Amino acid sequence: MAWDTTDTLGMGDVVSNESLANLLREERRFAPPAELAASANVTAEAYKRAKADRLGFWAEQARRLTWATEPNETLDWSNPPFAKWFADGKLNVAYNCVDRHVENGLGDRVAFHFEGEPGDTRSLTYAELQREVSQAAHALTELGVQGGDRVAIYMPMIPETAVAMLACARIGAPHSVVFGGFSADALATRIQDADARVVITADGGYRRGKPSALKPAVDEALTRPGTENVRSVLVVRRTGQDVAWSEGRDVWWHEIVDRQPEQHTPEAFDAEHPLFILYTSGTTGKPKGILHTTGGYLTQVSYTHHAVFDLKPETDVYWCTADVGWVTGHSYIVYGPLSNGATEVLYEGTPDTPHQGRWWEIVQKYGVTILYTAPTAIRACMKWGDDIPAKFDLSSLRILGSVGEPINPEAWIWYRKHIGADQTPVVDTWWQTETGGIMITPLPGVTATKPGSAQVPLPGISATVVDDDTNEVPNGAGGYLVLTEPWPSMLRTIWGDDQRYLDTYWSRFEKRYFAGDGAKKDDDGDIWLLGRVDDVMLVSGHNISTTEVESALVSHPKVAEAAVVGATDPQTTQAICAFVILRGSAAEDEGLVEELRAHVAKQLGPIAKPKRILPVAELPKTRSGKIMRRLLRDVAENRALGDVTTLTDSSVMELIQSKLPSAPSED
Ligand code: WT7
Repeated sequence: MAWDTTDTLGMGDVVSNESLANLLREERRFAPPAELAASANVTAEAYKRAKADRLGFWAEQARRLTWATEPNETLDWSNPPFAKWFADGKLNVAYNCVDRHVENGLGDRVAFHFEGEPGDTRSLTYAELQREVSQAAHALTELGVQGGDRVAIYMPMIPETAVAMLACARIGAPHSVVFGGFSADALATRIQDADARVVITADGGYRRGKPSALKPAVDEALTRPGTENVRSVLVVRRTGQDVAWSEGRDVWWHEIVDRQPEQHTPEAFDAEHPLFILYTSGTTGKPKGILHTTGGYLTQVSYTHHAVFDLKPETDVYWCTADVGWVTGHSYIVYGPLSNGATEVLYEGTPDTPHQGRWWEIVQKYGVTILYTAPTAIRACMKWGDDIPAKFDLSSLRILGSVGEPINPEAWIWYRKHIGADQTPVVDTWWQTETGGIMITPLPGVTATKPGSAQVPLPGISATVVDDDTNEVPNGAGGYLVLTEPWPSMLRTIWGDDQRYLDTYWSRFEKRYFAGDGAKKDDDGDIWLLGRVDDVMLVSGHNISTTEVESALVSHPKVAEAAVVGATDPQTTQAICAFVILRGSAAEDEGLVEELRAHVAKQLGPIAKPKRILPVAELPKTRSGKIMRRLLRDVAENRALGDVTTLTDSSVMELIQSKLPSAPSED
């Protein structure tokens, strides 16, 4: 069973009360700006309404969409945990994201301001998007794609990627987007598992100032057994680099798409028709193909984007910096914002190319008003220095969002102060690939925000924290985060593996969805996320969360970033081992290591004092910015490294290993 480790660890006493008090030591609350609160899309009343009638509330949100057949039924939960939302309704997702805005006279509104990494730009209006999506839909049909066929998408961050996804949605062919940084192996596994019929890719994209090839990985993936059903590879020309060509299989996008008719009649699909599969790696084993469907998914991403970002589509310029290969890109670049008629920025490259102010230059250039990014990026910007964003005019910004991992209070405060002029609300949004849409978050016009906490479930969402016996914990206590009622954008299953869906999410706590995260409720009942339960350490009989020790380390002025793991230890079961990136000017010496250990002991108590602290230049991260603690554990336990294929940069691990003293320093 997957629960072996968590069963022995238990999360009941993950953190001591002093340490929670410490997390809250700032004791700062930031009330919503009055002007924002006065014209907010969603007010406190929504919580009351949803509480009084949860299903009625979601039925009302479903009316944000344009249905070909209006649903009468809201939720069918007769066969839990297999949910059906709005099951008797029919709609077309692409129509909702594109055509209806054009029909409403908004054809000239910009959907995407595209900024290529080399500096090339292109603006795509809703009318242009409608033409391109229609043509791409015809092209897929010409290639033999039918409703229900899976299409793999392996692309850079360019407008054609969104066009490809919408074209699939338009003809009812579920897409499986594979992040463009993944290897041929990772791509092949995903093509096999979904039994994809067509792959959409590009010659390459621009990353860190140079073209980075994509097509060779597709060519290699398609030599693997189990990929034979791929009939066609549709290739966008982005970089112009040379590509190998398989006649009869490979087709240039511009040759087939551009000659198609510009009109395409969208067909209405059942609300439970599959919209996409998105693979999450998890820590071990075969990747899980998370299946999302049509009506419930679009309802929740549309509503949450409207509520959490307070989008005013006529005036806002919204920018989500995620890659479209992650769920954040699906829900909050493509489906949520476009269903709301947003104007967005789409940026191809990295934040530090050609200089570390690139993002802020883009904010200034397009007058970005809403920015949604990840703590890892915020910490990188902190490390580069306050003077960099200070060179740009960021006064257009009015809401800042964070997603992907717990945001430590220091980074939260820095983000608000240096990017948000000390006045924009920061919304820390908790959700997962599996939840499809945002679940726990402050609302910018309602909630007094607390740095470091995701705070409260959205209207219509039921989440709480339970102990090992599924009892809800009181305020001030910690445990496991669970979702207690189904929600519209929930995953429907793991593609091809209903049993794994049951085992992974629905068996640890009866009738509750277990998210895999540890969490704590503070004295106000607000939720603080404490990281994956697999990342909890057991030290001399105490459960200590890696997130907390990391948060304590980065609260020291000389530390820019920290990653903490528990390494097997004969005396204490596990010993806390920390890897830290120092801020620019801090010198790395024995004295500093001692200072940091003492700092953690002071902040969290002596039990949480790391046994070892290693200053390093970089940390191993997945492409979505999550620290790969598994690899750091390998290092800390002097083991050969496990699978490094999902790392952004595998040389990072060699660097870390080369720094490692052969014997751990004794206390
Ligand atoms: C896991 C889900 C949600 C889209 C991107 C990641 C962690 C995510 C937060 C947050 C604390 C967070 C959780 C969650 N996480 N957002 N605001 N605060 N933790 O999607 O790859 O499916 O990862 O990311 O551990 O379970 P994902």
